[in-house]
This record gives sequence, structure tokens and C-alpha cells, in this order.
Amino acid sequence: MGSEASVCNNLHGRRCILRIIGILIIICILIYLERGRFGRKLPYLRDLYSYTWSNKTISPIRNIASLKRNNGFHVVLNYYEEDLNLVSQFIRFIRNVQSIRRLNVSIIIYNKNSNISSVYLQKMLKVDIVHQLPNVGREGGTYLYHIINNYDTLADHTLFSQAGADGVSVKEVESWLVNRLERQFTTAVGYMPLVSARWMEVYDCGRNIYNNMVRLAELWAMVTQTLCPPDKQTVTYRGQFVVSSKRIRRQPLRIYMYLNELITADSTHWIHTDKRSPPSQSTPSNPFFGHILERLWTVLFNCSKSDLINKCNRDVCACFD
Ligand SMILES: *[C@@H]1O[C@H](CO)[C@@H](O)[C@H](O)[C@H]1NC(C)=O
Ligand SMILES: *[C@@H]1O[C@H](CO)[C@@H](O)[C@H](O)[C@H]1NC(C)=O
Ligand SMILES: *[C@@H]1O[C@H](CO)[C@@H](O)[C@H](O)[C@H]1NC(C)=O
Ligand SMILES: *[C@@H]1O[C@H](CO)[C@@H](O)[C@H](O)[C@H]1NC(C)=O
Repeated sequence: MGSEASVCNNLHGRRCILRIIGILIIICILIYLERGRFGRKLPYLRDLYSYTWSNKTISPIRNIASLKRNNGFHVVLNYYEEDLNLVSQFIRFIRNVQSIRRLNVSIIIYNKNSNISSVYLQKMLKVDIVHQLPNVGREGGTYLYHIINNYDTLADHTLFSQAGADGVSVKEVESWLVNRLERQFTTAVGYMPLVSARWMEVYDCGRNIYNNMVRLAELWAMVTQTLCPPDKQTVTYRGQFVVSSKRIRRQPLRIYMYLNELITADSTHWIHTDKRSPPSQSTPSNPFFGHILERLWTVLFNCSKSDLINKCNRDVCACFD
């Protein structure tokens, strides 16, 4: 007898077929019950909260120095409570962009949610560093923390973003974002906004139809050491951009430190009741100054000319070094 007959040994033909069908049905049920394990889905936030967490933090200074020496590109993400599927999609996308891959990318997540373990985030997202920060100063405070602590050892380019990025959904990465990083980004980029044109606006020294931010005009003067000129300025929202170390270091460290002092100030600081800012709730975890800093990056990195939106619409969305 051949071995292929062994399943049906000693059985009549019909009972044999029924048994095989039975086995197949059981296999199908098992596959159905276990289907979750085959997808690459990550847990949603509510599942994270029940996960054990610890206070383990890693010094970013020490760790960034120990990253691969040939590191041309850092990605700095500010994490609060974004869906991990979304963050993971963003990271996967960045790692696969040809122009960035060549530069040996490292990904650093600053975790501002004390309920989520940084160790767990690192395990789920498989990034190079996760560093816990107190939840003050919104995303702008996080970027300043990174710049100040690594001022002398910044990568040639750093991509700063909130963990939930404009242009990224769980299903897809929008074509303008793919295009910008795949085709418009080169190592000559000094500053490149990473938001679609709907998140850019032209201001007149802190003012547009919706906003009147006197402090923005003052910051212009502080940063450029000239008065804010009458030719309008482009402002981008959401704090999503790529910037070169050259441009970051064109501003002295003390400017970043002063901005950081304001954005991380405790609740007794005058910045939270500033009469020269529009009336608004302001707390250390959500300071109004965060909105001002959000509008300052193009000025800080000398890429605020009023034609920036046009350039972005023409697919040359950057200022070059
Ligand atoms: C984390 O640190 C805070 C403050 O240092 C402490 O109160 C808390 O108990 C710590 N949590 C754990 C899980 O170790
Ligand atoms: C990336 O790493 C490789 C291997 O370590 C190195 O040869 C190359 O020069 C690096 N590229 C950049 C842009 O740093
Ligand atoms: C952390 O958990 C506590 C208790 O469930 C909750 O009150 C707090 O809002 C949570 N914090 C964040 C940042 O989600
Ligand atoms: C800012 O950029 C312009 C070109 O757009 C350049 O002429 C100017 O020198 C730059 N300013 C500084 C301070 O680097």
C-alpha cells in the first residue's frame, strides 16, 4: 500500500471524504479565529493603557552620540496619544523613501504620555530611541528640547513632526507627501515644509484675517535682528518640516533656549496671561505660545518668503542651503 492511502485506511470511500471535509472545516475555523495574528495590526490606544508600563528613560544626548556615526537623517516624532497603526505607517513610509534611505535614517520618538511605557513604544514601533518627556510645551517644546540637547551633534537633516502627520492615514500616504520626499528632497534642502498647501498661510507681521499675534512680529525682530518688513511672510502649521543642521545652527543656541524657557514655563509665568496674545486658555501642557512657535519655524529657518506656497504648488517646496 502507498502512504497516500493512509488517511482513508480501513474506511469506505464516503466516510473517508466526510472525514477530510471535517478536517478542512476545523482548519478553516482555526485560521479564522487566529486571523488577527497574521495581520500587521498594532493595538489601539485603549489596549495600550492596560499594558504594564515603567519609568525607564534614556538620555537622548548619550544615545544620539552612540547612533551610527554615518547618520545623515534623523526623524524626530512627538508622541502623545496617536494611533500606533498610523505612526507605524508613517515610519514605514519614511524608511522606504529612496532619497532618505541612502542617508542612514534614525528615528527618535519623544513620548509625552506618562501612561504609556517608552519601552513598549520602542518594541511596537521598532525605532532607534524612545525618550520620555514631561507633557509640557506641545510639539514645539519637544523640537526645542531635541535641538538644544543635540545642537553640536545634529544629523545633516532632521525631520520634525507630530506622530500623527498630515498626509498619512492608516490606508495610504497622500501623493503630495510622497512626491515631496521622493522627488523634491535632496541633501541641498535647507528647510522644507511637510504639510500640504492647505496648512500654509501668508501673514503680515503676525497678522492675517484670523490672527493677530503681536509676539510673532517681535520674534521676527529677535530672530532676524531687523524689523518685520512689509512684504508678507509665509507661515506653516502643524510643525511638520525637514531642516538642515546648517540652518538650525545659523541661529545661536541661546535663541532656542529662550524660546524653550517660554514654552515650558510653569503656570505662574506671565506668558500664560499675556495681554499681547489673543485671549485664550494657556496652560503648561497646552500653552498659547505653542501656536506662536508653530508659526515661527519658517522665520527661524529663513524660509518665510511669501512665494513659498506657490513654490509648493509647483513642486519646488523648499529653501536650499
Ligand atoms: C514613575 O515616576 C513617578 C515620579 O518619579 C512615580 O511617582 C511613579 O510611581 C513611577 N511609576 C512607576 C510605575 O514606577
Ligand atoms: C551610510 O552608511 C554607510 C555604511 O555605514 C556609509 O558608507 C555611508 O557613507 C553613509 N551615508 C551617509 C550619507 O552618511
Ligand atoms: C493617564 O491615566 C490617568 C488615569 O487613568 C488619567 O487620569 C490621565 O488623564 C491619563 N493621562 C494621559 C496623558 O492620557
Ligand atoms: C536668508 O535667505 C536669503 C535668501 O532667501 C539670503 O539672501 C539671506 O542671506 C539669508 N539670511 C540669513 C541670515 O542667512
